[in-house]
Amino acid sequence: MRLFHRTEKRAGEVDFGNLPRHIAIIMDGNGRWAKKRGLPRTAGHAAGAETFRTVATYCKDIGLEYLTVYAFSTENWKRPADEVSAIMGLLERYLYEAVDRMERDKVKLRFFGDTSVLSPKLRALISRTSEISAHYAGCQVNVCLNYGARDEILRAARESAEALAAGEIPALTEAEFAQRLWSGGIPDPDLVIRPGGEMRLSNFLLWQAAYSELYFTDTLWPDFSKLEIDRAIAWLQRRERRYGGA
Ligand code: FPP
Repeated sequence: MRLFHRTEKRAGEVDFGNLPRHIAIIMDGNGRWAKKRGLPRTAGHAAGAETFRTVATYCKDIGLEYLTVYAFSTENWKRPADEVSAIMGLLERYLYEAVDRMERDKVKLRFFGDTSVLSPKLRALISRTSEISAHYAGCQVNVCLNYGARDEILRAARESAEALAAGEIPALTEAEFAQRLWSGGIPDPDLVIRPGGEMRLSNFLLWQAAYSELYFTDTLWPDFSKLEIDRAIAWLQRRERRYGGA
């Protein structure tokens, strides 16, 4: 695992003919972005939701196959109730608009995490957008919602043990296990990006990121831009990936 903390400012030179298949992003720094402007944290999340739109559209435009974003973790319920409901409200609004726009925009949505505990309105929007997504090809955006990697791994372990005990699988292989994660069937992320200056994974894609390149930047998520995506991809393209080999 290689760590990189970006400080220098260098424009990205992306080879668009050799893009990664899957980029994952920890959308961090909304609260600090708002604080710096004397605004409530919820204003930071609203700005962060706009950045998400811009970045998802850009990833689709350049032909990325998979984008995975960390929108709400299993631990985020500990935040003040008004902040939680503001984030849920932003997600509702995004999904409500997505129902009309996603076919045209060619962005398909999937959700990683236990969505059964979310509001009935949000669950209905998740079903509707998932249904629409099943019918066409396009950039797949995986929204991690009430997601935690440990929870994901534990669920997959339980399911795998059951499948093994029931004789449904002859042996428990990495491939059989990975199939039971929320990300089953999707290639592992080539690149995990964390804006906001922190250098940790915070319970995000712990299994899937085993060989991902990790890119950190001090830019706060609401200030993140297409250029920052280019920089991260250009950086990835300069890495030599060995997957444990020589
Ligand atoms: C982390 O920043 C961000 C979150 C916990 C919420 C992310 C949610 C959104 C971007 C909005 C909704 C998303 C979609 C997909 C429409 P933080 O609050 O921890 O920031 P801080 O570290 O500066 O306090």
